[in-house]
Amino acid sequence: QTKAFTFDPGYTSTASCESKITFIDGDEGILLYRGYPIDQLAENSDFLEVAYLLLNGELPSKAERQRFDTSITHHTMVHEQLKNFYSGFRRDAHPMAIMVGVVGALSAFYHDSTDINDPHQRRVAIHRMIAKMPTIAAMAYKYSTGQPFVFPRNDLDFTSNFMRMCFAVPAEEYELNPVLCDALDKIFILHMDHEQNASTSTVRLAGSSGANPFACIAAGIASLWGPAHGGANEAALNMLEEIGSVDRIPEFIARAKDKNDPFRLMGFGHRVYKNYDPRAKVMRKACHEVLDALNVKDEPLLEVAMELERIALEDPYFVEKKLYPNIDFYSGITLRALGFPTDMFTVLFALARTVGWIAQWREMIEDPNQKIGRPRQIYTGAPMRDYLEIEDR
Ligand code: SDX
Repeated sequence: QTKAFTFDPGYTSTASCESKITFIDGDEGILLYRGYPIDQLAENSDFLEVAYLLLNGELPSKAERQRFDTSITHHTMVHEQLKNFYSGFRRDAHPMAIMVGVVGALSAFYHDSTDINDPHQRRVAIHRMIAKMPTIAAMAYKYSTGQPFVFPRNDLDFTSNFMRMCFAVPAEEYELNPVLCDALDKIFILHMDHEQNASTSTVRLAGSSGANPFACIAAGIASLWGPAHGGANEAALNMLEEIGSVDRIPEFIARAKDKNDPFRLMGFGHRVYKNYDPRAKVMRKACHEVLDALNVKDEPLLEVAMELERIALEDPYFVEKKLYPNIDFYSGITLRALGFPTDMFTVLFALARTVGWIAQWREMIEDPNQKIGRPRQIYTGAPMRDYLEIEDR
C-alpha cells in the first residue's frame, strides 16, 4: 500500500533538487529505494537487482535482470594500463587515496567514448562504473598487502567476485563462504544510496557542469572519505577499540556531552535521522549473522557497542538531541570480522554508494531542465572600500 508522503514546506524550501530515487523520513526512521523499504530489499533482494531498481525505477523482470547482469559482468575487467596508477602510490597509501586517484584516472581511459548526451554511451559509462569499482577496490586492497591482483571471474555474482578478488591468492583455491558473501551483499545494499548526502550532492554538483561521470564519481569518493561522513565506520571501530571495555563507557559518554571536548560518539547521530537509522537495525542483524557464521562467540567490541547503544538510548542528553546509532555503528565490527582492515571500510562504502551516485548523476543529467549548479551565499565580509597604497596601510 503506497502511503502518500507530504513534505514540510520548510524542508522543500531548502531542498537542493527533486528526485524520484530515495526517500527518507528522518523523524519516522523510514528509508525507501524507489518506494521499497530498505529492510525488505536487504532481506529479499541482492546487489545487482537493487542496482537495477535504483537505476531504472522498477525491479527487473527475469529477462531484464539477465541482460543487466551480463552487461555488468562483462565490464568488470580494467584496462591493463590502469594498473600502472597503483605502483605510483606508496604501499602504505590509504586505499581511499588510491580510489580517488584511480577512479579519476578512468576518465582518461573513457573520456573520448563518453558522450554524456548520448543515451547508449551514458548507459555504457554507468555499467562500466558499477562493474569496475569492485575490481579497482580489490586492487587497492591487494596493492596495500603486496599480494598480486586477482582477475574478476564471469561465473561469480557481484559480491562473491569481489570477495574472491580481495582474498584469493594464486597459491591455493579460494573457498567462498556463501553466508559471508550474502552478509556483505546485504551491507552493500544498505550503503547504496541515501538521498542528497554530502558525497551525492558533490557528484551532482560536479556533474552539473557536464564533467566526465568518472571524474564526478572520484569527487564523490573524496567527499565520502571524511570522518563525519563515510569515514565514520572506520572511526566508529577505532572508537570502540579506544573504549576497550564496558566499564570505560561512562567516561566516553561524559566526553561526548562535553562541549569543550571535540570527541563525538562515532556511528551516532545523523543530519536527517532523528530516529533509529533503519539501516543500523539491518546492520546489527548482519553483524550477528557474520559472527555466528564465523563461530565467534565473544566479540568484545560487540559487547561494548551493544552496551554503549543501550546506555546512550536511555541517556536524557542523547534522547533530547535525538541521537541514535546510524549505519556506521555496527558496520566496522562486521567488516573487520569479514576480513577487511579498517582502512578498507570506507572503500567498501564507496563501492556500494557508486550505484547511488551514478543513478543520481543520471537523473540529474537526463533532467531536461538541468542547469549547472550554482549555490549562493550570505556575504559577511568587508563592505565596499577603496584601495590603499602600502605606505598608507
Ligand atoms: C553518514 O547524510 C547522510 O545521509 C550520510 C550517510 C549516508 O548514508 O550518506 O547517512 C552516512 O555519514 C552517517 C553519519 C556518520 N557520521 C558519524 O557517525 C560521525 C558522528 N556523528 C556526528 O559527527 C554527527 O552526528 C553528524 C555529523 C552525523 C551530524 O552532526 P550534526 O549536523 O551536528 O547533527 P545534529 O545537528 O543533529 O546534532 C544535534 C546535536 C548537536 O549538539 P548542539 O549543537 O545541538 O548542542 O547533537 C550533537 C551536536 O553537537 N551531536 C553529537 C553527535 N552527533 C551530534 N554529540 C555527540 N556525539 C555525536 N555523534
